[in-house]
Amino acid sequence: MTTSSSDFIVLHGTAVSLVLEADGPGAPLWRHFGARLPDIAPAPGRLRAERFRPTFSLDDDVPFSLFPTFGQGWFGAPALLAHRDGRDFAQAFTPCDWHWIRPGQAVRVTLTDAVAGLTLAIDLDLDPATDVLSTRARLTNSGPTPLDVTWLAAMCLPLPGEAAQVRHMSGRHNGEFALQVDPLGRGTWSRENRRGLTSHDCPPVGVVVLPGATEHAGPAYGAQLAWSGNHAQRIDRIDDGRFQWQMGEWLAPGEGRLPPGATMETPEALATFSPHGLNGVAANFHAAIRARMTWPGGSMAPRPVHLNTWEGVYFKQDPKTLADMATAAAALGVERFVVDDGWFHGRRDDRAGLGDWWVDRDVFPEGLGPLAAHVRGLGMGFALWVEPEMVNPDSELFRAHPDWALQIDGRPHLTARNQLVLDLTRPAVFEHVAGRLFALLRELPIDALKWDHNRDLTAAGSAGRAAWRAQTQAAHRLFDAVREAFPSVEIEACAGGGGRIDAAMLRRAHRVWTSDNLDAVSRVAIQRGFLQFFPPEIMGAHIGAAPAHATGRGQSVDFRAGVAFGGHLGVELDPRALTDAHRDRIAAWIAAYKAARGTLHGGRTWLGEAGDGVVWQAQGAPDDAVVSIFRVEPTGERWAPRVRLPFLDPARDHRIETLGPPPKLDPAQSPFLADLLAGRARIHGAWAREIGLPLPFMKAQTALILRVAAL
Ligand code: DGJ
Repeated sequence: MTTSSSDFIVLHGTAVSLVLEADGPGAPLWRHFGARLPDIAPAPGRLRAERFRPTFSLDDDVPFSLFPTFGQGWFGAPALLAHRDGRDFAQAFTPCDWHWIRPGQAVRVTLTDAVAGLTLAIDLDLDPATDVLSTRARLTNSGPTPLDVTWLAAMCLPLPGEAAQVRHMSGRHNGEFALQVDPLGRGTWSRENRRGLTSHDCPPVGVVVLPGATEHAGPAYGAQLAWSGNHAQRIDRIDDGRFQWQMGEWLAPGEGRLPPGATMETPEALATFSPHGLNGVAANFHAAIRARMTWPGGSMAPRPVHLNTWEGVYFKQDPKTLADMATAAAALGVERFVVDDGWFHGRRDDRAGLGDWWVDRDVFPEGLGPLAAHVRGLGMGFALWVEPEMVNPDSELFRAHPDWALQIDGRPHLTARNQLVLDLTRPAVFEHVAGRLFALLRELPIDALKWDHNRDLTAAGSAGRAAWRAQTQAAHRLFDAVREAFPSVEIEACAGGGGRIDAAMLRRAHRVWTSDNLDAVSRVAIQRGFLQFFPPEIMGAHIGAAPAHATGRGQSVDFRAGVAFGGHLGVELDPRALTDAHRDRIAAWIAAYKAARGTLHGGRTWLGEAGDGVVWQAQGAPDDAVVSIFRVEPTGERWAPRVRLPFLDPARDHRIETLGPPPKLDPAQSPFLADLLAGRARIHGAWAREIGLPLPFMKAQTALILRVAAL
């Protein structure tokens, strides 16, 4: 039997197609999410008619759908867990309606459960420009009594039965984006985050690969949740051999209570498929994140080089110190001066002051105006660090309003870094914090804010109820309010480094502070994890001191600079203390970054491994890319491996030159390096793809930054 195309919801991307079978009762059935199908490729028949009924099974076949639930007879993980005082615990959405939001691209599926008194709307939007599917669900309690929701999936995605591994991230402060690879099997794979913000150790991201997928080729799926609070994801094997991948908010008890008539909306989940391996998934995500970002002036300006004062002087700020740092920074070529933690009332260390967002007049008797004018006069932008959601018990604010922190009645406060979290769900607190931010932004010529959040949320109680979810929503509203009132101000999102990096934050921020760990060896791995999901131009990447404060391990200034080069470059050390040689070197790297950032930012990113301790990344376009080669470990071989660059055009010859100050490698050791340095290096695309670029001898913890351009 053939079916008419109206029985199916078909969305096509460029290399992705989605097919749902939508003619029966209940949620549409998943028929396909994966490789692009031809425009007209009718399914041979309806799924229930195509497959036989196994023994000891329900008489009505219940295949995997867009929104599987108990009440239909679904034995797998349900998309909804909810009840009404113990009743209406098994939902079955039967009448299903759908209509195009944008024909062939975006659709809304509406489902009703008349028995349980629920309506559900699921939006699916497959953007052909990015091949990323956006999905979210809205559940409305149309019954007469409150409904308690404990799980509402933002995404229920099918994965083929061959799906072999899930690649996801763990980590900690100073060790973000640590790649984990788990096999998929019969058991459930799941990750849950209850830290109240995106988290260092469990960001809501993942990539699932099929056998044979590599960085550059083969089928791979990716998903990430646009949410900055608690979340959960799981992958379960389903009865027909496929897997289902769910993502959504993790709801604390009581957080999902919906009064009659109320609607709960999930965050947006982003899902993609690429036949081009891990780098294909990364390209799709980078494009989708870019499409969601909003820039002052409508488009991204060249990413200015930062000087961040934190590791240079920590809390030891005073007007002369900061002015001299700014002068020294400008001489390096820095374009934005970021005054980090320590400038506000009572903030001499990390034990006091948070909440008192006015300039400390004991330290800055004339305020920060003269410093800002000095910075601006040097031709740099002026940026200020804030941590608006926090309060120290030792602060004027807390003394005046000891009840303004999130707390559980009758239980002690749990401090972290000596601080508590303000209850932004309370209008008075929100208004106060917004008011202080607005006042600062009016009083000072601030071009950018660094917006920090230095603790996880414990005991996130408000008025006796769990408030993780409401706090996350309020934090988003606070960002939105600042963006709306001060649209020319950029925001760098930070949470003790990379604790709040997600697609929802990136609708609001323009840069993220990737990690407090400036050790360039650690940073190679952190940045590679990051780049799987987020684009390089928003990845704060600083040249720090040696030895690195986080690890005690030191690297050459060139390696530190080379590793930071591809991101949004900054310097985080005391520029007054640099030797002449290091000052010249950093200035040369900054000049090279300025010349290359148009190529580094906004194009494709490819990650690759050459083996023997050598990894590489390329940024730009196939005919003009910056290729950063990092030898992280000392060689274990007599000769260096070759670097194969599979993204190059196999039909064209390519010119190669080094970027940055000339590498401190011995040209006598390598004829190739001698050619490179003399501007004579050429390689044919086919040769570079298949046989690879030769490398000079490189010691451990050295970098080679190349421009590879087609002739
Ligand atoms: C944590 C951030 O990651 C650092 O860069 C710095 O801003 C400190 N907080 C300041 O307290």
